[in-house]
Amino acid sequence: MLVAAFALGASAQPGDPLPTLQHVFATGDCARCHVVPEVAELPRTESCTTCHVWIRKVAANPDARAKAIEIFPKWERYERNVATYLQVPSLTAGFARLDPDWVRGWIADPHDVRPYLDEGMPRFEFSDDELSVLRHAVAAANVEVPATPAPDPANVEAGRQLFEDRGCVVCHALGAAQKPVTPLATAPDLAHTRDRMSPDMTVAWIKNPQAISADATMPPSAVTDAEAILLRDYVYGADLASAEPPAVAADPVASAEPVTWAQVEERVIGKICIHCHMDPDLNEGRAGPGNAGGFGWAATGIELQSVEGVIAVADKIPAVLLRRRHEARRDTVTQGQRPADLVRDPRPGMPLGLPPIPDEDIALILGWIEQGMPH
Ligand code: HEC
Ligand code: HEC
Ligand code: HEC
Ligand code: HEC
Repeated sequence: MLVAAFALGASAQPGDPLPTLQHVFATGDCARCHVVPEVAELPRTESCTTCHVWIRKVAANPDARAKAIEIFPKWERYERNVATYLQVPSLTAGFARLDPDWVRGWIADPHDVRPYLDEGMPRFEFSDDELSVLRHAVAAANVEVPATPAPDPANVEAGRQLFEDRGCVVCHALGAAQKPVTPLATAPDLAHTRDRMSPDMTVAWIKNPQAISADATMPPSAVTDAEAILLRDYVYGADLASAEPPAVAADPVASAEPVTWAQVEERVIGKICIHCHMDPDLNEGRAGPGNAGGFGWAATGIELQSVEGVIAVADKIPAVLLRRRHEARRDTVTQGQRPADLVRDPRPGMPLGLPPIPDEDIALILGWIEQGMPH
């Protein structure tokens, strides 16, 4: 169904009506990770977030866990490995406060906003019309807020004091200017806020996030109107002092040690890639977005669940892993770094939306391929 929806978008002719918002949400698979307004929640078998959260819940409940171990032979491995998509920021709270043009540009070419959250927004293949429909939806969802004075650089020092005294620095980074005390993965690096939110919205949000969106998880901060303006002026005026991440190190070289399929499966393919590239015959027809198409990308037919499936596309695997390594300078930056401007390859690196595979594991895969893919 998602594939058919994509085909409609891709073959749009001038004069065709704009795609509907529902179509864009479906094409982008937004509900796999977010709760999306007016879109039915996906079952656990389809939703990255729901299933991962479920695994953690069962792991914490001794009775349910004992049952799960009986049903799923690999349960203990699942518990060990599931770490991402457990907390995804609210789409609704984002639509309520973020600048519509910023959202449009970011969905077309995302970058890391939260230095302590490993996973980022995947890159989508959207047409200009689809992006315009999303932009329009954000503009319509933006909450109206009172006008405030323009940001004043003279307030930066007073705002910095408040930022530290009022505990903002407990959760938030602000470029290299502020390092969070106990970083919260879902708290954005406020270095991006001057691009993401209007000055008026920033004041209103700081005063009372829940008045902007019931889904806001930031606690209300009990600041006066004047203090909220000082804090905003600091967020807007601070010297962020952030540098671009260093250049990407030389490509890893193939491991010279003998490598087995079991190692490659355990450390990379069966741990990460399989989740978007499933074999439909082993999963009641579900093939995942990397196989059947998803996030706006057309179907690839690539199944990475069986060794045969991996061998069939082995010539493509090194390039997609190295591409993601290159994209990391924008998509997976650490505290204090500014996401680099990238000239992207038209095809996204793998794993999509996730940090690159560590160099030692890439070396392992390259070694296995070079050794003729023994299995
Ligand atoms: C595979 C999971 C996944 C899918 C699918 C996904 N998102 Fe996201 N989304 C994320 C993650 C993770 C973040 C946080 C990224 C960051 O902070 O760098 C995010 C952040 C956002 C934000 C910004 C919220 C904020 O507080 O910063 C918006 C808006 C958003 N997504 C909209 C969408 C839309 C619209 C779609 C569908 C076209 C979509 N997302 C699909 C995982 C996903
Ligand atoms: C039906 C349940 C289920 C669904 C749906 C699901 N996963 Fe997973 N996911 C798992 C399990 C179980 C593991 C651990 C597998 C292992 O190590 O053998 C896992 C592990 C992962 C991992 C590696 C560990 C980590 O957390 O980083 C990634 C990446 C991943 N999944 C991505 C996704 C994405 C993206 C989606 C949505 C397109 C998704 N998963 C949907 C069950 C699920
Ligand atoms: C307990 C952790 C926590 C504290 C303390 C906190 N925040 Fe937040 N803040 C968040 C989270 C989480 C978000 C993301 C949206 C959400 O889920 O509410 C956020 C969002 C924001 C945003 C929107 C930024 C963007 O680019 O999307 C601003 C601005 C902000 N906070 C400013 C502040 C200020 C100023 C203070 C101190 C008065 C503060 N925050 C205190 C957790 C916190
Ligand atoms: C979050 C989901 C997701 C994960 C995880 C994922 N993929 Fe993909 N993959 C996709 C999507 C979507 C496409 C289609 C994009 C395109 O057309 O280039 C794709 C395409 C590919 C392609 C075809 C690219 C080309 O140039 O033809 C290869 C090869 C691939 N993935 C390998 C991998 C490997 C190896 C991993 C694990 C390291 C992985 N994928 C993890 C979603 C994913």
